[in-house]
Amino acid sequence: MKIFIQADKLSAYITELRARDKSVGFIPTMGALHQGHMSLIHRAKSENDISICSIFVNPTQFNEESDLDKYPRTLAEDITLLIENNNDILFWPTVAEMYPSDLATDIELDLEGLDTLMEGAFRPGHFAGVAQVVKRLLDITNPHRLYMGQKDFQQFSIVSKMIKDLDINVENVSCEIIREESGLAMSSRNRRLDPEIKSKASLLYKTLREAKATISSMQPSEISKWAMQTMDVPDFKPEYFTIVDGYNLQAIESFEAHDFVVACTAVWAGEVRLIDNMILKEPKSA
Ligand code: PAJ
Repeated sequence: MKIFIQADKLSAYITELRARDKSVGFIPTMGALHQGHMSLIHRAKSENDISICSIFVNPTQFNEESDLDKYPRTLAEDITLLIENNNDILFWPTVAEMYPSDLATDIELDLEGLDTLMEGAFRPGHFAGVAQVVKRLLDITNPHRLYMGQKDFQQFSIVSKMIKDLDINVENVSCEIIREESGLAMSSRNRRLDPEIKSKASLLYKTLREAKATISSMQPSEISKWAMQTMDVPDFKPEYFTIVDGYNLQAIESFEAHDFVVACTAVWAGEVRLIDNMILKEPKSA
């Protein structure tokens, strides 16, 4: 595996690859890699000649300094995992390399409210930071395809909108959520879970599944209310359980009027904030 630290060296290398007609798949991450990330690498490898993974804990998307400080950093293990999974290129930049003082990296984007709901409501400024870093990474890596997880459904929607609005020539590929045996969605943050709390954290998945099973008999607002109560148990504190239209992320009032419906939730499990989601109704074309 080749490792790049400098953006211009990586860009030059990719330009050369593309000139030789090699297709490039890009997987942005913040490290502390797990099998969820590896599923994105596998998909990129299966659909492109070259896979590029970036590891960068992006300070501009953290609205709390303590969350940034506590974010797990496990570079040596990450490199081992990437090599074992045959990833081709790792980009591991510093903050100064990503945000040089002589380069304007802020982007003007009207996210039309996509960024103020759910995660955006609880983490102000978070999605502006995500859009900024993904744009910068796409400028550097210039891939044919970008691989992102459905795990962060709102993030995927916002990045897709940015790609469309800024007319960036890349295909954004959504990859399914990889879960532990218990049903808990894999996440870098799971490493920080207290083992006893972790053993009960399948609560999110179970609640999402039960919600899905009741869509023919209950209205979205009733399901949300029920789910918030169900997850309000010792050690757990639900922040939201919102049932949204999968295209515009607006909360819905009835299932009938929407063909793509997703339930999204965020729950504090002890000191760790977990997010998860489940598609309740698939778009007809899917
Ligand atoms: P990170 O949390 O490291 O996630 C990197 C990618 O892996 C994201 O697209 C995320 O949705 C996906 N992912 C995480 N857990 C997954 C799981 N259990 N199953 C499938 N995919 C999973 O998301 C970020 O980093 C950052 O916000 C980033 C996009 C890199 C910008 O800084």
